[in-house]
Amino acid sequence: MSIQSLRFSLKALIPALALVTASPAMAQFAKPEDAVKYRQSAFVLMGAHMGRLAAVVKGETPYNRDEVVRNAAVIGTLSSLPWQAFPAGTESGKTPGKNDALPVIWTENAKFKSAADRMQAAVAELNTAAQSGNPENLKKALGATSQTCKACHDDFRKK
Ligand code: HEC
Repeated sequence: MSIQSLRFSLKALIPALALVTASPAMAQFAKPEDAVKYRQSAFVLMGAHMGRLAAVVKGETPYNRDEVVRNAAVIGTLSSLPWQAFPAGTESGKTPGKNDALPVIWTENAKFKSAADRMQAAVAELNTAAQSGNPENLKKALGATSQTCKACHDDFRKK
């Protein structure tokens, strides 16, 4: 390939890449059930890493600041993922297999979004608490984060 044509193809590629990275909300799912699987997977992993921190707070796992920081950071990344995977038409009953997403997510979407924002704000605090190296801070921040999980589940997840 000549330098000229390589330049040309890179030029064509770069805007395409920018579009992909700039629009996570437009993540493409081939089928509605793929979106359900995606968000459930993110939630399962969030739950697993919350569980690891809970074990530290309960004294079942010895306190190790580096591990705590790592788990909080993983939760931080995961907490931004589920929201792109709630396209219209993916409520409970509309897709095959397990799906606990209540229709109220779409009819009261602003409320759902603020519940997600509250959780992400709590997770930011959780990361600050993890970095402080203070187990008491961790305990408080983990409790506050769990409350934001529960608040959303109470309103938007099938019992
Ligand atoms: C803004 C709303 C909201 C917040 C905040 C939220 N969840 Fe959920 N969660 C849901 C919904 C809705 C479902 C059901 C998803 C489905 O079945 O498609 C769910 C499902 C789950 C599941 C089950 C996944 C499965 O396999 O069916 C777990 C575990 C979970 N959430 C953990 C958490 C944890 C831990 C937090 C807090 C760190 C949290 N969630 C915060 C709305 C939320």
